[in-house]
Amino acid sequence: MRFLITGGAGFIGSHLADHLLREGHEVTAIDDLSTGRMGNLAAILREPRFRLVKGRVEEAPELADLVAGADLVFHLAAAVGVDLVVQSPVHTIETNLRATEAVFKNAAAAGTRVIAASTSEVYGKANSPTFRETDDLVIGPPTHFRWSYAASKAMDEFLAFAYRKEKGLKATIVRFFNTVGPRQLGDYGMVIPRFVGQALAGQPVRVFGDGAQSRCFCHVQDTVRALVVLAADPATEGEIFNIGSPNPVTINDLALRVVALTGSRSTVEHIPYDKAYAPGFEDMLRRVPDIHKIRRFTGWEPRKSLDEIILDVAAHMRQP
Ligand SMILES: NC(=O)c1ccc[n+]([C@@H]2O[C@H](COP(=O)([O-])OP(=O)(O)OC[C@H]3O[C@@H](n4cnc5c(N)ncnc54)[C@H](O)[C@@H]3O)[C@@H](O)[C@H]2O)c1
Repeated sequence: MRFLITGGAGFIGSHLADHLLREGHEVTAIDDLSTGRMGNLAAILREPRFRLVKGRVEEAPELADLVAGADLVFHLAAAVGVDLVVQSPVHTIETNLRATEAVFKNAAAAGTRVIAASTSEVYGKANSPTFRETDDLVIGPPTHFRWSYAASKAMDEFLAFAYRKEKGLKATIVRFFNTVGPRQLGDYGMVIPRFVGQALAGQPVRVFGDGAQSRCFCHVQDTVRALVVLAADPATEGEIFNIGSPNPVTINDLALRVVALTGSRSTVEHIPYDKAYAPGFEDMLRRVPDIHKIRRFTGWEPRKSLDEIILDVAAHMRQP
């Protein structure tokens, strides 16, 4: 099959491209290299079934042809990462709305299926033990820039269903919970690469807040497998799916696990949120996906443990 991956030079997009090419498919990636890197594509750049288009999705003159020429679009391009979002809210909102609108408009016109990336952030401040796709989205006020990412992704989801109703768009929404693995950068506030980098450098591992907040981490290879099984099943069209690990770990335990598994002598330090981010930063205590829906549709569930994730990230970071 012929796939178009927006954000194909990014962390998840490049792993997805690797996988699809290994399976014998054709892949075109479009990426403006804002947070993506050419290094992520090093292994596939010379592959004749791979093509990279450099540029912004929403400004690319060839977007209509790229979308029409694909059997399915994985729309992953977005402004990503808590730090980036807090520092550049205009860039976040504009990118996440305009790029998605451009993809949906062209996909609806061409009749091409789209799997579009959303995020667990859309569940916002809701206080449920686990989050289900039908839950209400409880997003904080617009004066807190952190929520601009969640709000822009929630709007993308509304746009998908609006295009579906009025223009026949064939769209599936995937809400990624924390996805981790080799190639993810710590620069944009991603916790595992940041902790592993600090542990390998022998620096203190810096936990924001009191560390009692918990998160669930899914290996990027498991996430890619989820995208592939959803793409293979047309019955997933018009649906929203959580993709993530259902096993929470506190950030304190994560820090200790990273130190132990990397054989580091680093200590663990706590930094108040107000020092790590802007004053008034809000974080969620817990965020666990309910993954019954994707399991029911496709049989998918994550296979890789947290230790495997940490060891894979550390092995990647140790490479020269
Ligand atoms: N990694 C996670 O844990 C996670 C969690 C929730 C949601 N997501 C979503 O998954 C998708 C992929 O995220 P990722 O973790 O691989 O991040 P990433 O930053 O590595 O990937 C995003 C890619 O999109 C590119 N890009 C950004 N704006 C663009 C534009 N206007 N035109 C073209 N390319 C553009 C970037 O250069 C980058 O390569 C994003 O939509 C993100 O919101 C990721």
